[in-house]
Amino acid sequence: MAKAKIAVVGAGNVGATTAHIAATAGLGHILLLDVVEGLAEGKALDIAEAAGVQLYDAGIVGTRDWKAAADSDIVIITSGLPRKPGMSRDDLLEKNVEIIKDVSQKVAEHCPDSIVIVVCNPLDAMVYAAAKVTGFAKNKVMGMAGALDSARFSYFVASELAVDVRDIKCVLMGGHGDTMVPLPRFTSVSGIPVTELLDEAKIAELVERTRKGGIEIVNLLGYSAYYAPAAGAVKMAKAILQDSKSLIPCAAYCDAEYGVGGYFVGVPAVLGAHGVERIVELDLSKSEKGQFEESLAHVKQLVTKTSQFL
Ligand code: LAC
Repeated sequence: MAKAKIAVVGAGNVGATTAHIAATAGLGHILLLDVVEGLAEGKALDIAEAAGVQLYDAGIVGTRDWKAAADSDIVIITSGLPRKPGMSRDDLLEKNVEIIKDVSQKVAEHCPDSIVIVVCNPLDAMVYAAAKVTGFAKNKVMGMAGALDSARFSYFVASELAVDVRDIKCVLMGGHGDTMVPLPRFTSVSGIPVTELLDEAKIAELVERTRKGGIEIVNLLGYSAYYAPAAGAVKMAKAILQDSKSLIPCAAYCDAEYGVGGYFVGVPAVLGAHGVERIVELDLSKSEKGQFEESLAHVKQLVTKTSQFL
């Protein structure tokens, strides 16, 4: 089988880390793209040299030339401004929509058969912009947020219970923002519902920490997280390239599903060779549904604002 080709757009912290994790995972040939002269070339060369130590089979090239992205199977868009302390993800909208618009036009021109994973913020609105500008089928455009947010919730639950984080399974829905909806009822430690293991107040505390997980890191670093976001993007790319039908929460297009009415928003989705192959509809409680609707209302506002720039 021919090696898969993954184009990572943006060679900043998230992009370069995505490229490195994808290379170490042996996902395929990696192309790192950036508009800044020397940046993608330098990071790609560094990652290629690390292969001699870590012994992975890395075909990785950095460039500013979009022609090199032809025939990419997957395009991971990480370009865009990150947050600084005091900023919400929504404050990035005006700047990042211009960037995503430009990148999406290039994706449509050079990689018309690719599947697109968007990582930049405000996430749900940027996925909408990428889908609109590329004109790609809705199952072929998605956003990385749930993979990150559910990993954060899993980590907090595992730390609290002093258990292996790999034993935690969890589902999280809604937009990638303060209104995201971690779902403790669908979170387990090797099948044992977390609601059996932690009291309500402690769970509420971990849910709140997850909702604020991004800003917790921004406040520590002065800029946003990138190891876990990059790992989330690679997890999604891997499910698609390996056609593994993995159930990963991500920003996927929903119409009748959950009564969303035609928006990209975080839902549990099955990822495989066709991109988002299925959305799993959970029977939400009244309170869960209420939280999801509140989050969706916020996503809709962001999309309305985004549309003005497209
Ligand atoms: C975060 C940013 C990447 O949640 O949205 O860390």
